[in-house]
Amino acid sequence: MHLTAQEEHILAGEEGHGHQKAMELLVALGDIYGAERLIPIASAQVSGASFKTIGDAGIKFLEDFSQHSKVSVRASLNPLGLDLQRWKAMGVDEEFHSKQDRIVRAYKSLGVEPLYTCTPYLAGNRPRRGQHLAWAESSATVFANSYLGACTNREGGPSALAAAIIGKTAEYGLHIQENRRPRVRIQFESIPEGMVPLAGYLVGKIAGKRLPVVEGLSLSPDEHKSFGAAMAATGAVSMYTFTQPGRKTKLDLSGVEECVTIPTSELTGTADGLKGGDQWDLVALGCPHCSVAEIKKMARSLKGKKPSKRSDVWFCTSRAVYNSCPQEVAVLRRFGKVLCDTCMVVAPIERLYKRTASDSGKAMVYLPTLGKQSASFRPTGTLLEAISC
Ligand code: F3S
Repeated sequence: MHLTAQEEHILAGEEGHGHQKAMELLVALGDIYGAERLIPIASAQVSGASFKTIGDAGIKFLEDFSQHSKVSVRASLNPLGLDLQRWKAMGVDEEFHSKQDRIVRAYKSLGVEPLYTCTPYLAGNRPRRGQHLAWAESSATVFANSYLGACTNREGGPSALAAAIIGKTAEYGLHIQENRRPRVRIQFESIPEGMVPLAGYLVGKIAGKRLPVVEGLSLSPDEHKSFGAAMAATGAVSMYTFTQPGRKTKLDLSGVEECVTIPTSELTGTADGLKGGDQWDLVALGCPHCSVAEIKKMARSLKGKKPSKRSDVWFCTSRAVYNSCPQEVAVLRRFGKVLCDTCMVVAPIERLYKRTASDSGKAMVYLPTLGKQSASFRPTGTLLEAISC
């Protein structure tokens, strides 16, 4: 990989140990993926923020790194393992909290913005079309590439942090226009109400590592958020392209090697397969973190009803969204906890619950694995009915 004179200086350690380590990581990645150079990034989004996912080794890495380094571009952080203000009410213990606190302090010292969300684009860090980024959170990466038109690979936590410190990333993968061409063409016979996350779930399984184009897709921005998140969880998909009914979209389809039509019966069959049991300890909504529009919609549908109290309820969102719709948050709080800074997957849910229902396709992948839950998929409307009477 060709480095500029200044990049060579950093690699030689002339700008300090932290910058040197960060540059070594970027150069190693660039060499593995055949990048020719480093390119500037507009922002980074760093994962690896919950004590549950990074453990003691992660704390040590961050504390060491934070002594020598600071980020040089805007960088925001993924959800933590707890709500910083309501962790006791969540049932999180003191030991977990104190370890999480060390992680929070290390990231603050590195200069990473404490957004603690997987939807930074709804909390102030919204990239513009064509900007190059180094984002790590898979659901945010797929949204940035596919809906916002920015360019990012799905970084690992350390490589996103290294890119944030140097302000650059290696130019390979989705930073190169030619690699953003679809290779599999997918269309749905129909997507029934509440099934958008499962549509993404199926696209990820079919696409695998290939970039899909989904034809005739008519989704709201929030639906794109859950569609892409599920796809990135079941497949190694960091981007999809799409066409919309009645709109002409210019697409280069010369790389397409397979066309697939998904019958509606496959979606309903997938829903049946992910149905799980009917008794839940927890109903968890907000994966990815809820937008203002989603909070308002849920509050409208719950207003005037009483909580059924059949299970605990978590609504997960960012603090930025929480603070911007206090009246609707107050409605939701009558039915359960509106949690910020964390989510049902990266919180230590396995210490608290065994059976969790969610409306998220991504959560159906990670609740049974990372969360050790018996997971049940239900559309949002069904879950809102279940938690109210
Ligand atoms: Fe976000 Fe947690 Fe889901 S990080 S995408 S709410 S698994």
